[in-house]
Order: sequence, then structure tokens, then C-alpha cells
Amino acid sequence: MTIKIENLTLSYGDSVAVRNLSLEIEQGEALVLLGQSGCGKTSTMRCIAGLETPDEGRISVDGEVLFDADRGVNRPSHKRNIGMVFQSYAIWPHMTVFENVAFPLRMKKLPKAEVARRVEEAITVVGLDGFAERGASMLSGGQMQRVALARSIVMEPSVMLLDEPLSNLDARLRHRLRTDLRELQHRLGLTAVYVTHDQEEALALADHIAMMQFGRIVQIGRPDEIYGRPLSASIADFLGVANIIPVRPLDARSVGFEGTDIGIQVEPYDDRAGELRACIRAEDILLGDDAPAESANTLEGEIVAREFLGATATFRVRIAPGVELDVFGTKQQANRTREGERVRVHLPVEAIQVLPTEAPELAEHVREGAA
Ligand SMILES: Nc1ncnc2c1ncn2[C@@H]1O[C@H](COP(=O)(O)OP(=O)(O)OP(=O)(O)O)[C@@H](O)[C@H]1O
Ligand SMILES: [Mg+2]
Repeated sequence: MTIKIENLTLSYGDSVAVRNLSLEIEQGEALVLLGQSGCGKTSTMRCIAGLETPDEGRISVDGEVLFDADRGVNRPSHKRNIGMVFQSYAIWPHMTVFENVAFPLRMKKLPKAEVARRVEEAITVVGLDGFAERGASMLSGGQMQRVALARSIVMEPSVMLLDEPLSNLDARLRHRLRTDLRELQHRLGLTAVYVTHDQEEALALADHIAMMQFGRIVQIGRPDEIYGRPLSASIADFLGVANIIPVRPLDARSVGFEGTDIGIQVEPYDDRAGELRACIRAEDILLGDDAPAESANTLEGEIVAREFLGATATFRVRIAPGVELDVFGTKQQANRTREGERVRVHLPVEAIQVLPTEAPELAEHVREGAA
């Protein structure tokens, strides 16, 4: 099923949760909505599911219009064949796991044997074998979440909306379920919209990632594109880029750290974008002997902090007053380096991105102060 959203706007009273959002999701595709808390992810999903009435816009699935504000079309939620796993999963505490999962199938009056088969299957997929007869109120949070997930996949909907379906699970189970979900989605040819706060989960599950800020989509692309080429410093920040440093343009291929006379070479950048930031991941910076001595982008600084992380370590290196870089190092480097020591760091040109603070379309919005 192809989902097409055009110019969707949803407000709750005076506050606008989704702003003129347009998005297309291809048949069989998994799209991940990524963005900070309150940016409108759940609201967007609720509009697709038919649980909110948008102020404006159009939503269609496979060319069939489910919602159209102009034409007054609004198909009720239960007639949309869309499965949704909520962030706050609602399961019925007075029913067993089996009954919870069977509920939507019984509503459809499917034959008993088929219900049993499909429920067993779904319970296995989410790893709850042996729990079928357990009362739902006697489950852990993560188990309840998996019941909610099973109840949604048992319907074999053509579109699945998953709002942080794995957030309450431990790392191992989350990893396993995320692989299972991906496999299930491919096997059933499901079109899925997924919300997660977990960056790794987003990168692993998504065919495309849509970055949301303030109710808008500010960037959309394949995981490697979003990860490698964020459009703004605030997106880079959200994606875990540790070093985001205010810079001023020097010439077409170099910038200077604000408040210092230190310049570095960079790839060509757009200097019309207003305030600029040099963005560089901690793991891309070379430290100590790894940093080539004779290079424009090799700087010297003092280690001001050191954090041992087991296999690796993070160092904070002060290059100048007010300019500090987070740098990943090995545990060997952590062992032989002390706070207060002077070290070399090297910033590879290709690892630095000079970006505007905000994505262009958002910059205007932020200036308006309408956030
Ligand atoms: N029922 C509601 N009534 C009023 N405002 C709401 C309601 N639901 C959400 N909002 C507001 O709309 C905005 C978007 O909320 P939404 O739940 O879509 O965010 P989200 O991106 O899902 O965040 P999170 O990652 O925290 O779940 C927020 O500012 C929120 O406070
Ligand atoms: Mg939410």
C-alpha cells in the first residue's frame, strides 16, 4: 500500500502539532519518523490511523482517499485497515494474553481454528510462547508491550503504524524483535511507519528516515544519507554528532572557530545560510600519534577530561578558550594519557560539515518565534 499525505495540518486548540506536512511512503517501505519529543510524530500517526481530525490536508492509501479536509472525507478509524501499536500500549488487563491478541480477529468473526492458529503465530513472533493463558495484568511492562505488538500483527493489516513499539524492552530482546519485525514486514509486504527515539533502531529498520522538527519534516532520505549528510547542525546534533562548533567563513574552503584565530580547511560550503557550525563526529577525529604532524587541520590542545567506556574512551580536548572537542580514542590511549597533557588532534577535511544552525525552511519558523 502506498500512503500519500498532502499538506497535513493538525492543531490541538491553539497549538499546532503538525504543520503542512507532506509525505509519501511506498508499498512495502518502512519509514521511520525521527525527531525530538513533542515534534509531532505521534500526532502524525494518529492522523493516518484516523484517530485525529486534521484541520487541513489529505491522506490517501493506494489512491483511495481516507481523509480530505476540503471535500469533507473522513473514513472512520476501524474502516482503514491500519494496525497501530501505540506508545502507551493499551491492553485489557482482565483478559489473558491469548484473548487480548485474539480480540480483533474475534471481532471480525473468523473461524475458531484460524483465530487459534494466527494468535499462536503472533505470540511466537513476539517471543511470548508459554504465556498465552497468563492474565495480562500479571505481565511486565515489556511483555505487555509485546502483547500489544502481537495484537496488531495478528490483523495482518496492510499498513502498520508503530509508535515506539520496543521502548520498554531490554537491549537483547529489542534487537531480536527489531530483526523479527523487519523480516515480518518484508514477508507480508507491509508498509510501515515507525517511531523510535533509538537512533540505532532507526538506522537498522528504515528504508527512509524522515526527520521532524516543530511539526514539519525537515529532511528525508535513506539512513546513510541522513546519518552522513544532515542538512543542519540541529539535525546533526539530534543524530549524535558530538562536536558542533560555531564558525565564521574565511574563504571558500576554510572557516575559523568563533572567538579564536584558529582556521581549518573544509569542503566547499554554503556561506549564505546565516550562522554556521562545523559539525564533526567524535569518532572521526584522530588523536595523538594518529594525527599527522604536518597538516593544516592538525591542532594542539590540552586534555581536560577523559572518560573510560570499556572498549573505547572519550577525551575532551581544549583547543582554545571556549573551543573544546570530544574525541574518541582507544583504551590504550586512555591508559597512557592524563588530564592536563597536551595532545595533537587532526580533523580530516572530509569528516567536517559546515552547516547552518537550522534547516532552511525551519530557520524562518524559528525566527518567527512560533515554536
Ligand atoms: N491531546 C492533546 N492535546 C493537546 N496537545 C497535545 C495533545 N497531544 C499532543 N499534544 C501536543 O502536540 C505536540 C506534538 O505531540 P506528539 O505527541 O505528536 O509528539 P511526539 O513527537 O510523538 O513526542 P514524543 O517523542 O514525546 O512521543 C506536543 O507539543 C504535544 O504537547
Ligand atoms: Mg509520541
